[in-house]
Amino acid sequence: MRRESSESPQKRIVNTKYRIIFIGICVILMTSAIYIIGESLQQEQQGAELKAPATGDIPSIPVEAGVFRRSEQALTYANAPENNKNPRTLDTFYDLRAYPGAPPVIPHELINEQSYGGKSCLPCHENGGYVPRFNAYAPVTPHPEMINCRQCHVAVKTKDTFKESNWVTIIPPPINQEAMTGSPPPIPHGLQMRENCLACHAGPAAPTEIRTSHPERINCRQCHALNDKPTTAWTRNTSY
Ligand code: HEC
Ligand code: HEC
Ligand code: HEC
Ligand code: HEC
Repeated sequence: MRRESSESPQKRIVNTKYRIIFIGICVILMTSAIYIIGESLQQEQQGAELKAPATGDIPSIPVEAGVFRRSEQALTYANAPENNKNPRTLDTFYDLRAYPGAPPVIPHELINEQSYGGKSCLPCHENGGYVPRFNAYAPVTPHPEMINCRQCHVAVKTKDTFKESNWVTIIPPPINQEAMTGSPPPIPHGLQMRENCLACHAGPAAPTEIRTSHPERINCRQCHALNDKPTTAWTRNTSY
């Protein structure tokens, strides 16, 4: 009696199919095991490799980007001479503005009466520097990209007010508000059009009272916190 005869020919075909699939899976598993072990053995033989750090832009906070705009000039400012000849002070700074934050008037003659700004202002105001013609250091503009300069900055035509008015300016925020001697004073002003710190705080054209001793520290807002709101004295709550 033959054993095979107990199984139907159909069942035998199904069994063979399963066997082929099973063997197939085993072969795939075996090859992948060989591949993985081979790869890991090969990696062990490789020595340490010192890769250069990733290049490209380091991600930054867009609203604080202005702080770094003039950073490449920081060392030039740090090594710039003292401005003993014709120092700019906070008094002269405020004198040219209708109120703190207003565009200053142009205190000098115009080199080209017809120009609207751009190339006729930026040679002196983009990076600053001494101008023998005006016997002064040119203040650096915080906004060289706004090339239509005379849209906001007007030349002085007369020293007299042609009509009396009751305009009174506002008092600028006080400086030296540091919490303790030696700690960084807070930024007492808003940052609209004032993101570019080095333009006003560094170099010989910066008003002497606010000229920083450390333009090379680059990330100004790391240490100087913004405090442009009036603060009231803090009192201890003793009701509990
Ligand atoms: C030849 C160089 C030169 C050119 C060109 C020039 N400036 Fe000036 N500017 C100066 C100097 C120097 C001062 C500082 C004057 C002082 O302190 O007595 C100054 C001061 C200023 C100020 C006053 C800033 C402040 O807050 O004290 C403004 C505003 C100004 N210039 C705008 C302009 C505009 C706008 C143009 C183009 C139409 C222009 N300047 C072209 C050299 C120049
Ligand atoms: C949209 C108006 C506007 C335009 C355009 C403009 N400015 Fe100004 N500028 C201002 C205001 C406002 C201030 C005062 C900023 C402050 O004190 O916060 C100022 C300040 C300045 C200062 C004084 C910086 C300092 O150290 O005190 C200079 C210099 C100056 N601008 C030059 C220029 C030049 C040069 C151009 C053209 C390339 C120009 N501005 C275009 C509005 C403008
Ligand atoms: C347009 C010019 C201008 C720009 C740009 C500017 N500042 Fe000022 N800063 C001033 C003036 C003027 C004062 C004096 C108080 C006032 O009038 O607001 C001052 C005061 C300060 C003080 C207080 C100094 C003290 O001795 O107490 C700090 C700190 C300061 N600024 C930091 C910054 C930082 C950080 C930035 C950049 C995010 C910046 N400023 C951008 C003009 C400027
Ligand atoms: C590592 C922290 C730190 C950074 C970054 C820093 N500062 Fe200061 N800053 C201080 C301290 C602390 C003081 C007060 C003590 C002193 O006089 O040095 C000060 C003082 C100042 C003053 C008052 C005048 C002075 O020099 O004493 C100004 C203005 C100023 N910093 C502006 C800036 C600007 C603009 C930048 C960015 C280029 C900057 N700071 C970056 C810590 C810092």
